[in-house]
Amino acid sequence: MTFSKPAKPFLAALAGQRQPRPPVWLMRQAGRYLPEYREIRARAASFLDFCYTPAFTVEATLQPIRRFGFDAAILFSDILVVPDALGQTVSFESGEGPRLDPITDAEGLSRLKAEPDWQKLSPVFETLDRLKTALPGDVALIGFCGAPWTVASYMIAGRGTPDQAPARLIAYRQPNLFAALIDRLVEASAEYLARQIAAGAEAVQVFDSWAGVLPPAEFERWCVKPVAALVAKVKAKAPKTPVIAFPRGAATQLAKFAGMAGVSAIGLDTAVEPAAAVAALPGDLALQGNLDPLALVAGGAALDEGIDRVLQGFGSRAHIFNLGHGILPETPVAHVERMMARVRSA
Ligand code: CP3
Repeated sequence: MTFSKPAKPFLAALAGQRQPRPPVWLMRQAGRYLPEYREIRARAASFLDFCYTPAFTVEATLQPIRRFGFDAAILFSDILVVPDALGQTVSFESGEGPRLDPITDAEGLSRLKAEPDWQKLSPVFETLDRLKTALPGDVALIGFCGAPWTVASYMIAGRGTPDQAPARLIAYRQPNLFAALIDRLVEASAEYLARQIAAGAEAVQVFDSWAGVLPPAEFERWCVKPVAALVAKVKAKAPKTPVIAFPRGAATQLAKFAGMAGVSAIGLDTAVEPAAAVAALPGDLALQGNLDPLALVAGGAALDEGIDRVLQGFGSRAHIFNLGHGILPETPVAHVERMMARVRSA
């Protein structure tokens, strides 16, 4: 039997159609491991200035597509532009990650705007609009946001921490305050994704990078339900646009998450056994993942074996080849090329 190649294999896989070879993209595929990214990044005064300048963000989005021929391009931006547009002070210290003016009480929450400053985010929509025509015809365009829990955890701690304890403590001690913050983020993020879709995003991904630090009851309340509400709001405005969720670390709670979130696909982290995910998750759900980013750094036999295990493990399903978390800055470009050649010849 011969397969006719769909116009965009990534979107076909998201629609639940198993592809003869899985489409490929990598989380954080644009960025510091690429010399051409470092070159343009050095021209911006700050990381946020870079994120709000379409000439930079269009180019950064296209760089990994030109170099590797991935099946999907992800908008170059950051999940923390939403708190920035809500009026929180956000900056990125080089080598140290994000710094935000922490929200720890009702007064801090009251300083946030009721909705994001859409004018501030207009470069994001302009970036998507320009990418529509700049991308090759078979490459899909992905928009994204952070999940409410993950974004809230940065807004409260003011930075990344090993286990996002500050947000977990506030959620226990001041649940009403925390719920109000989560609600604000559900509304803002749903509208933000709807506007990205209107500007040209053909699929959207919700990054819940800190989903794995919560116990089951808190996981359901602060991760699953807000993501489900966010997805329902996006679907009300753009019923046909597929939504991918990446609940990193959700482990034994993946089936609960998948059952409630209303998404088209689940991104799986490195710790998930592919066969277990195939068995546990509904058959119409596309699965994305989950090569260890460190295997991509290591290269050689570890990389080849890792790739083959991912391909075999998800082989029976609509699968999108990806990493189990973002690509690391120290990743050699040659290893990404090797990975592409191996996945493409599978
Ligand atoms: O995938 C892509 O190529 C698109 C770009 C993208 C960035 N951040 C660019 C970026 C995406 C999708 C993100 C998502 C993001 N941002 C997440 C979720 C995914 C994940 O990795 O867990 C999170 C938690 C953030 C918040 C964030 N932004 C952190 C913690 C950091 C510092 C750590 C780090 O990786 O540097 C950032 C900065 C950031 N975002 C950089 C890039 C390329 C590095 C800054 C620079 O280039 O100067």
